[in-house]
Amino acid sequence: MKNTRIVGVGHYVPEQVVTNFDLAKLMDTNDEWIVERTGVKERRYFDYKKDTCSNMAAKATKMALERANVDVNEIDLIVFATISPDYMFPGSGVLMQRELGLDKKAIAAIDIRNACSGFIYALSIADQFIKTGMYKTIAVIGSEIQSSGLEFSDRQRHVSVIFGDGAGAVILQATDEPGKGILSTHLHSDGTYAEELCVKDPGSSRKREERLTPEMLKGESVQAHMNGNLVFKHAVVRFMEVITETLKANGKSREDIDILVPHQANLRISNFIEKKLQIEGKVYNNIQKYGNTTAASIPIALSEAWAEGKIKENDLVCLAAFGSGFTWASALINW
Ligand code: ACO
Repeated sequence: MKNTRIVGVGHYVPEQVVTNFDLAKLMDTNDEWIVERTGVKERRYFDYKKDTCSNMAAKATKMALERANVDVNEIDLIVFATISPDYMFPGSGVLMQRELGLDKKAIAAIDIRNACSGFIYALSIADQFIKTGMYKTIAVIGSEIQSSGLEFSDRQRHVSVIFGDGAGAVILQATDEPGKGILSTHLHSDGTYAEELCVKDPGSSRKREERLTPEMLKGESVQAHMNGNLVFKHAVVRFMEVITETLKANGKSREDIDILVPHQANLRISNFIEKKLQIEGKVYNNIQKYGNTTAASIPIALSEAWAEGKIKENDLVCLAAFGSGFTWASALINW
């Protein structure tokens, strides 16, 4: 069986920087509260005239291809994670395929909607396809435009200060080298808490005839509902569990980790894990600059960490995520 290597990483973030001070002009919030509770200082918001979820993804993929020295035509599968797709359907995978000029090649495109865990779910799926030999070069993407779905009001301030826009991508290829590349991935979910972090409308299963009504647009059901305290409590437990699980599965200990790249949910969550695992200085954070970019946060962080020389050949890289569903996941990689 083949192993899967990440041969290239890339990202794209929109130019527009939105600071906490900018948000404080729109609703009752302030820089001190946001920094203390979340760590976020600024985030990027898309330009509706030029950015879409799929074209941001294409830009991130092009950077990853360039860094990997891989031609775009080698891609034989796209696995695209997002909860803010261009359209209700089709998924953004086919749109990015078209954007990359791969539409006439009729390659496969899969869309994943596991929110903050989406990138690791996508990576895991792609890994299986490489291991079995079905595909040789796969682009795995996380891309999100959250800003146009946020409400800048006092009732939604605990949600709208957290999120930002951006895209990240990795290129996967097979290797015959034993013990190299993705060592294992671990995926979990618990639907008990589905409504504790969700956007309900426009949905199809709420016991009514119409999917979208004018009343709905004024209500909160089209906005993200987040039980912040509950999410926080589950996140810290599940992050620890799933990181421990991947270390154990590979006979590794926390001391072996060279870098942990967690989903950028909240700086307090990352700091808690860093302390609990006693891996001071080994956790990569960029939520301060970008906020929580959901499925895009891990590949953006990977791309920046790699560019800063913080991920090197043969480093043991751990990825971990927790999010809506609830879902949580991890991956251990010998880079
Ligand atoms: N500015 C100022 N005050 C605010 C804001 C804001 N933006 N938002 C909430 N507050 C107020 C509340 O109204 C409340 O006021 P009160 O005490 O007068 O009632 C007070 O701050 C405390 O509110 P809490 O919701 O209890 O604050 P908490 O410390 O839990 O922080 C937060 C909220 C940041 C959402 C936190 O719960 C959290 O991070 N939870 C984890 C959820 C998470 O990571 N989400 C990321 C997105 S989802 C994902 O990635 C999985």
